[in-house]
Amino acid sequence: MNEKINVLKKEIKAKLETIHSVKELNELKVEYLGKKGPIVALSGMMKELPVDEKKTFGALLNSFKNDVNTWFEEAKNELEEKELNEKLAKEKIDITLDSTSLPVGGKHPIQMVIDDVCDLFISMGYDVVEGPEIEQDLYNFEKLNLPKGHPARDSQDSFYITEEMLLRTQTSPVQARTMEANKEKSPIRMICPGKTYRRDNDDATHSHQFHQIEGLVVDENISIADLKGTLEILAKTMFGEDRTVRFRPSFFPFTEPSLEVDVSCFKCGGKGCSLCKGTGWIEILGSGMVHPNVLRECGYDPEKYTGFAFGMGPERIAMLKYGINDIRHFYTNDMRFISNFNRKEGGSTDESK
Ligand code: DAH
Repeated sequence: MNEKINVLKKEIKAKLETIHSVKELNELKVEYLGKKGPIVALSGMMKELPVDEKKTFGALLNSFKNDVNTWFEEAKNELEEKELNEKLAKEKIDITLDSTSLPVGGKHPIQMVIDDVCDLFISMGYDVVEGPEIEQDLYNFEKLNLPKGHPARDSQDSFYITEEMLLRTQTSPVQARTMEANKEKSPIRMICPGKTYRRDNDDATHSHQFHQIEGLVVDENISIADLKGTLEILAKTMFGEDRTVRFRPSFFPFTEPSLEVDVSCFKCGGKGCSLCKGTGWIEILGSGMVHPNVLRECGYDPEKYTGFAFGMGPERIAMLKYGINDIRHFYTNDMRFISNFNRKEGGSTDESK
């Protein structure tokens, strides 16, 4: 019996030398340590031995089994390490190789202006709201103090879908919608960026589709001083701290009084140049105190509440800031134009910063 164990020892050791993979090792393990293997057979043969031999042979067989298990365990560790090293060597990445560079996208300049304006107003506690681009005549005009036949409708040549539905010509209908939807008739501070449409022939300064950003504040005791202070902050944020602002009387049907806002020319500092056409001032937006008729139409008591509103065109702001001379560049998706505006998230569009 002892002889048999010695033979098996030699045999297993010799075979272990020839093994090259974990798979082969497992097969060998089953061959020797499996139920039909020679070691189990030896255990079976113990029954036939006399009692005194049984004990010594049992101990011998056990220590043999333990040895075999240890050899297999050691061989397994070695093979696994070898296989891992081979795999790592095969999958080695040559970091000195040139990579293929993927083009990185950037924000569209219109979106950059919209984001900067929204960030500013969010920081002042305004909500950002949206409204439908396919709008009812009721909200686009009627509730904004522009009844049918009003001459001011002519300045906003519209794409009508039916008699009552049109593509909104301005973001101002969102003012009416926001006031109407506010059932408690509580104070409002909102800003609304979005697409707008007019039946204009496209040229360097006109586009049938463009953008606007609307602003609306309604509360008790809102005065024209609030409007002026707020729009001064807006002008300085967009065009630089050194800018001054000027307010000119104007007319919009939904505001009374109405004011147009000019910023001192950021190219010449106000001396007069080609950009400001020699005036030293550049017009940037329209604004005014919300007309009592509009407040009333939307369910607010004009005796108790007052408000101010403003509307601006991101295209115009972007054209001024970046010296773009043709509005069509924004929409023709020419990468040579768009890639000029790549910048990291969170940066400012304000060149003076
Ligand atoms: N909706 C106006 C336009 O398209 C811009 C505007 C002017 C909006 C004055 C306002 C405002 O809210 O108060 O020309």
